[in-house]
Amino acid sequence: MRGKLGLALLGLVSAGQLFAATLPTLNATSLKQYDGKNGHKSYVALNGKVYDVSNVEEWKGGKHYAGMVAGTDVTPYISKSPHGAGIIDDVGLKPVAIYSAK
Ligand code: HEM
Repeated sequence: MRGKLGLALLGLVSAGQLFAATLPTLNATSLKQYDGKNGHKSYVALNGKVYDVSNVEEWKGGKHYAGMVAGTDVTPYISKSPHGAGIIDDVGLKPVAIYSAK
């Protein structure tokens, strides 16, 4: 009984890893294209993951508060925000890519 449950859980974990592995990787140069201008999507990197904020009202046109802009890594500034990194879950965002600076 317990063995079967273990196998089922293992299966779920593996499926999760498989999903994570299928996410593309974006570097700083490729992320920059998603600046929300001229019909481009708005992507923002935070803590090693990239999120699509195109449909988040507060990121309209690729611009946010405190001079934050889409197409960049905002990790260094998140501690200065009133909401913190928890905003990702609050807004219901899922990563669209893994961020690797280089
Ligand atoms: C992926 C990253 C981010 C997302 C999805 C996001 C999203 C949001 C959303 C939905 C709001 C409005 C609701 C609320 O205030 O809780 C907001 C407000 C705000 N955010 Fe962000 N944000 C992000 C990063 C940042 C960063 C890095 C800063 C840097 C300081 C920042 C600064 C602010 C400020 C100042 C407000 C205004 C609060 C107010 O006075 O109403 N955000 N953000």
